Amino acid sequence: MTPALTKIGAQMSNLTGVRAIMKDIIETLRAGAGQQFINLSAGNPLILPEVEKLWRDCTADLLASSEYGEVVCRYGSSQGYAPFIEAVVNDFNKRYNLNLSDRNILITPGSQSLYFYAANAFGGYTVADQGREGGDLKHIVLPLSPDYTGYGGVALTPESLIAYKPTLDIDASAHRFKYRPDFSQLSIDENTGCVIFSRPCNPTGNVLTDEEVSKIAALAAPYNVPVMVDSAYAPPFPALNFTEMTPLFGGNVIHCMSLSKAGLPGERLGIAIGDAEVIEVLECFQTNACIHASRYGQAIAARAINSGALVEISETVIRSFYQNKFTVLETALDAAMPDSLPWFLHRGEGAIFAWLWLKDLPITDWEFYQQLKQVGVIAVPGSSFFPGLRSEWKHKQECLRISLTGSDEEIATAMERLAEVATKVYSGAAVSV
Ligand SMILES: Cc1ncc(COP(=O)(O)O)c(C=O)c1O
Repeated sequence: MTPALTKIGAQMSNLTGVRAIMKDIIETLRAGAGQQFINLSAGNPLILPEVEKLWRDCTADLLASSEYGEVVCRYGSSQGYAPFIEAVVNDFNKRYNLNLSDRNILITPGSQSLYFYAANAFGGYTVADQGREGGDLKHIVLPLSPDYTGYGGVALTPESLIAYKPTLDIDASAHRFKYRPDFSQLSIDENTGCVIFSRPCNPTGNVLTDEEVSKIAALAAPYNVPVMVDSAYAPPFPALNFTEMTPLFGGNVIHCMSLSKAGLPGERLGIAIGDAEVIEVLECFQTNACIHASRYGQAIAARAINSGALVEISETVIRSFYQNKFTVLETALDAAMPDSLPWFLHRGEGAIFAWLWLKDLPITDWEFYQQLKQVGVIAVPGSSFFPGLRSEWKHKQECLRISLTGSDEEIATAMERLAEVATKVYSGAAVSV
């Protein structure tokens, strides 16, 4: 049966960004039966034994408690499970010296849903209101592109999504670089509905400085524009920052977190912390969309926060695990990549990815991805990570995201093979299969 689709139906049944490539990767893995691939494409965290144990122990505690029936056999409030909200409020008030109440918190089924609510509650066409005519397009501003590919699919009004090109800090002799927001171009004004960015960033591992975040928030504040700081990799959990960073709270900043990289992606848990009125809008959106997030996930996460174990494991296990992987990757690249080639690795400041820029690459990132597949390595072509950036920019076809989710040996071998492919591609030679 082929049902007729609406405009939104057609739009939402399209796979955007990295999801489209994942389909190609799954087909490649399936078709290449017998061929061994080093698959560094995944955004899925590895299962670390200490992390699995944490969630197993919390589950055992929940199962043994009288709370169990109340958690799984009952609906609850859309805002979230009260003991979990209380755990977040207490922990954040103490940790960051804040004055949060439960009205500042919303729990969502994963943080992706949070961006969907925000993108459509604040971005898109306005209605007539208080003497204003309505019909104005409010933009969802991504201040630094590239950024999380998932922002590409969240806007029901796709034309509302606008991303800005960054400036590049290049350390040519070290083969390293870093993106910075280009404040000379960035426009946040009465046409802005909300601002979203990830910090640390998927795909680049960039961490916007505290000053850059404050500056973006200050630009948005006069227009009452919420700034959603996607902290899926940030401290206090999963603490996947390899450089110092301070989360920002208060005013128009909505601090958005996820339990996914702290070992609970299957439970779908996101947390928004911010202004009570903004939280209420998002909560109503959620009630209409799906009622509420899973209470089982919230009940075990409350235990992990209250005991301090979640933060402890994040800082001592999760962070060092991925930071070591990044070191393995950069050491292997430094050893294998010819100094004469214009390759630049983004500074590894956090998250679970490395981002490689192959300047003046003679082929597209998609073609490079195909060539890498031929030597048994799968990474993700970078062009999927520029949602909302409509301007032509060759850089978009010159990058690659490499996931840090392989074994040390796999990562090192993959970088050696990548260096061979890059050398041949730059010299114009075909890569042998
Ligand atoms: C930057 C970023 N934001 C949001 C998400 C969505 O996470 P979830 O919906 O699992 O909380 C991801 C997932 O990979 C991500 O990398």
